[in-house]
Amino acid sequence: MNIHESEKIAGVLEKLGYSPCDSEQKADVLVYNTCCIRETAEFKIHGHIGEAKILKQQNPNLIVVVCGCMSQQSGVAQNLKRRFPFVDVILGTSNLDLLEQAIVNAQNEKSTVNVEEKNNVLVNLPKVRTSRPNAWVNIIYGCNNFCTYCIVPYVRGREHSRPQQDVLNEVKELVSLGYKEITLLGQNVNSYGNDLKDGTNFSTLLNQVAKIEGDFRIRYLTNHPKDLTDDVIEAIANNAKICNSIHLPVQSGSSAILKAMNRKYDRDDYLKLVSKLRKAIPDIGISTDIMVGFPGETDQDFLDTLDLVQKARFSSAFCFIYSRRKGTVADKMEQIPRSVKGERIKRLLEVQNVITKEISKEMEGTLQRVLVEGKNKKYVNTYCGRTENGRLVNIKSDVDLFDQFVWVKIKNYQSATLWGEIVKED
Ligand code: 5AD
Ligand code: SF4
Repeated sequence: MNIHESEKIAGVLEKLGYSPCDSEQKADVLVYNTCCIRETAEFKIHGHIGEAKILKQQNPNLIVVVCGCMSQQSGVAQNLKRRFPFVDVILGTSNLDLLEQAIVNAQNEKSTVNVEEKNNVLVNLPKVRTSRPNAWVNIIYGCNNFCTYCIVPYVRGREHSRPQQDVLNEVKELVSLGYKEITLLGQNVNSYGNDLKDGTNFSTLLNQVAKIEGDFRIRYLTNHPKDLTDDVIEAIANNAKICNSIHLPVQSGSSAILKAMNRKYDRDDYLKLVSKLRKAIPDIGISTDIMVGFPGETDQDFLDTLDLVQKARFSSAFCFIYSRRKGTVADKMEQIPRSVKGERIKRLLEVQNVITKEISKEMEGTLQRVLVEGKNKKYVNTYCGRTENGRLVNIKSDVDLFDQFVWVKIKNYQSATLWGEIVKED
């Protein structure tokens, strides 16, 4: 979501005549696109904004902009302005449509702070796409779920979907421009259409997107287990264009913790969903997000998480230490010690790493259709791409493979990364 918002920020800047440069020292405009989902992201951004003070002293015409979800939090914009008075523009995620005017104001030495919450759709902004062969396409903004640890509903507002025809038009255009992978984006893509009240939902959207002609694959991020319907599973199973891969955040393997998180499913519901997916879509790669150290998490709760990880066999897992967020329900709960959290994340990563390697081993010898995303910077004449089920593959090649589908035989692996040999070009 943030990467795509940066593409929109770049689009607005390009429209104003700016072009990218390779160092802060050379810049006329510096834009910080912030994230506030965990405290580590916030600390980092404070450090960076602090450094801009010196740059501004060296170049008084430099325009400094802070946008993204951190600035949208209540009271934060005022604090930022107090702590970093040299910042010219502060905009929340709901106000990116004001960026163009705000920069023009800043050129005339007027500063702009606007973090008013609006439920607007920001798709009409110009975009400089940076993720070829993939293109990001927003389908739904905001979130109604209020998981008790999460700041997102407070900074991104309530769910609002883009009309289906808008999404289809954007995908058609991207495919005609040669994009070979389309990733549909939303905080909870499974809620798509609920607010449109015109009979569309995520499964109808998937089926329509899959009907668009052209050689491209479809991904979607991110899913909520409580809302993943049989119709969506059927759509994934029935459409060759939709990748056999799903990101399905579980957060915890303990039913008590899931309840305290307000996730509205328990460990059995989740494991049943995993079985259903594996039955309907053979070879599906399931990835997840897991959190350790949520308030009140006991040793037994944590062991339940490890047990679920063993049973679900995720192809990969983003593992996080719970981070306290002001204004959320969990912030007011009894917290657990940092050292316990540190110990747990280490154990979780160890367990998942073993599974990741086992799945890599199972893929040895298989034939995979890989979309090549770029060059591997560590090895010479090596390209990297992704299998349909979401695994990274390195491929040696003297010819340029970027932006192409290739058939690859998996020969070897290093932990999560596979090594393959081209069998034939697509
Ligand atoms: N602390 C740690 N991780 C969090 N996430 C969301 N909020 C928090 C938090 N307060 C994680 C969840 C989510 C992912 C995008 O970020 O696992 O799925
Ligand atoms: Fe946050 Fe939960 Fe919404 Fe995801 S579904 S954005 S974790 S509140």
